[in-house]
Parts: sequence; C-alpha cells; structure tokens
Amino acid sequence: NSGSTLLRDYANGFRIGAATNTMHYNNQNYVNAMKSFNYMVAENACKLSGIQQQKGVYNFNDCDNHYKKAKELGMDFRGHCLIWHAYQPSWFQNADANTLKNAIVDHITKVLQHYDGKIDAWDVVNEAIDDSSNGNGWKMRNSFLYQKVPNFIDLAFQTARKVAPNVKLFYNDYNTEGVYAKTESVYQFIQDMIKRNIPIDGVGIQYHVAVNQQPSYQKINDLIGRYCKLGLEVHITELDVKCDNVCNSGNVEQQQATVFTNALKACLNNSCCTGYLVWGIGDNDSWLGGDKKGLLFNSQYKPKSQYTAVLNVL
Ligand code: XIL
Repeated sequence: NSGSTLLRDYANGFRIGAATNTMHYNNQNYVNAMKSFNYMVAENACKLSGIQQQKGVYNFNDCDNHYKKAKELGMDFRGHCLIWHAYQPSWFQNADANTLKNAIVDHITKVLQHYDGKIDAWDVVNEAIDDSSNGNGWKMRNSFLYQKVPNFIDLAFQTARKVAPNVKLFYNDYNTEGVYAKTESVYQFIQDMIKRNIPIDGVGIQYHVAVNQQPSYQKINDLIGRYCKLGLEVHITELDVKCDNVCNSGNVEQQQATVFTNALKACLNNSCCTGYLVWGIGDNDSWLGGDKKGLLFNSQYKPKSQYTAVLNVL
C-alpha cells in the first residue's frame, strides 16, 4: 500500500464510505474521489421518494445505478432508508391510516426483495425520535407516520426481518453522537426495542456536527461501547463537520480534522462499529452548502487536510 493515497487501501476490511449521487457521475474528478472509499450509500435515490414517487409504481433505476457504480468500483453498498417522515411524496404523507400502514409493509417488502443478497445493511427507520427528548425517556417525533400508525417502527422492523432475515436492520438518527440529550433518549429507545424483542441489529449515528459542537473522543467512544454491550452494530452514517461561525479562523481545517478523527478512532476502538461514512464527496455538492466546508474533498475534489488526517488514523 505504500504510496497509495486511497483510504480504502488502509481500511483492512473496515468499511469506510461516502454518500454519492448519480447526478455527479459524469464528472471524472468526482468519480476519482469516490474511488478512495470501499463503501457507498446513495444520497437520495434509495429513499421512498426515490423509488416510489407514485403509489405502487416502483422505479429502481436511480438506486440501481448507484448500486451498479459501487460494484463497478469494488465497493459495498449501504441501504438508506426505508421509512422516513421527511421529503416524502404527497401520496405517502396524505394517505389515511390504513393505506399508510399497508404502504409501509409493501414498500419494505418490495425494496428488500429487489436488493436481496445485494445490500446487507439497511436503515429501516430514519429520525423517529423527537429532538426535544431530554434524556429521561424519549418522545416520539409527532410526524404523520406516528400520528397515523403509532406502532410504525415495530411494524417496519418486524416486516423487514420477515422479508429479509439476513439483512442487518438499523435505526438511524441525528443529534445522537453525544452533544445533545437526545443521544441518551435514542439509546434508551433502542434498549427498549431490544427488551420488547423488536428485531434490530444496528444503530446509525448520523454525526452531522458543527466544528465547535461535537463530542469528545471519550464521549463518543463510551457511547459506541454502550451500544456494543447491547449486542448491536454501530455505523457512523452521515458524518460531516460544518465550519459554521469559525469558517475564517486560521486553524479551522485542523479543528475539523480532529472531529473526523475522533469519530474514526472511537469507531475503530470498538469492534462492533463496522462502518464510517461521510455525507458527500466534494464540499460544493454537500447538502450543507459549499461554504460550510463540511467534507473531506474541496470543491475541486482535491483531498483536504481532513482527508489526510483520516487516512493517518486508518
Ligand atoms: C439529505 C440529502 O443530502 C439532500 O440532498 C436531500 O434534499 C434531503 O436529504 N439525514 C438523512 C439524510 O438521513 O437522508 C439527509 O440527506 C440528511 C439528513
């Protein structure tokens, strides 16, 4: 490996990945940067909004195209996400309770069957716990899903297990990496799922953070360790580190690098932490906007010092 600058060449089987988007695949610099990774998730294409924009009409083209690119580049592929309250087609949001319940089961069934034997880990439910949860129990997000199908989480995981018994089923959420009280609430919620025998295999910690609001190494390491003790896998699923109000400070890249490396070190320190993914390739493509400089490559797809810092930890 000596001389290689690709993260994947130092990963030793560990899954290090990025969210990608087919809309950029015609840019060779983007594709070259993708090749640094050995794991891929589609930024949007495999969501319900990407696959079932019209009720009952399943269109796998864009999700398939991401998957094919991953295979072409020798990457594993992560499934994101089956059930989510945000960015959903209106038919799904406006469905009556019974229709919605059937749609949840149908969508999970069709998607998991389509990718059977191809995708071994899926976010089954995304972002279902309310941000105001204070660490003392949890509050469900009061979304249309919860209002109409209060047991949608149990239903989603039970359906997924039945359809695809070999797929690792993840719950994925943000503000769960140790800065906010919601971290503890989600932990308790997951613990409760296990107690109630709801089939779950892993937790996705999204890890969208600001450079000056991030957990210490010790905090994230402890948290991952506690999930491991529950018998779960952990993935850091959507890491980006926005510079926010210190974007112009001289050492901001170094501070951002520390956030990326603390998360990676904590993940590597816990054997149940089996994946680490950043949410995009180049700064300009990021959902945060290019001025937040949240990713590992700059807008020209040149690796930044954060990239080198990550490489040095592997
Ligand atoms: C975001 C995408 O990056 C955007 O392009 C899209 O408009 C909205 O979704 N949490 C998640 C991701 O789980 O799916 C979100 O991705 C970012 C926050």
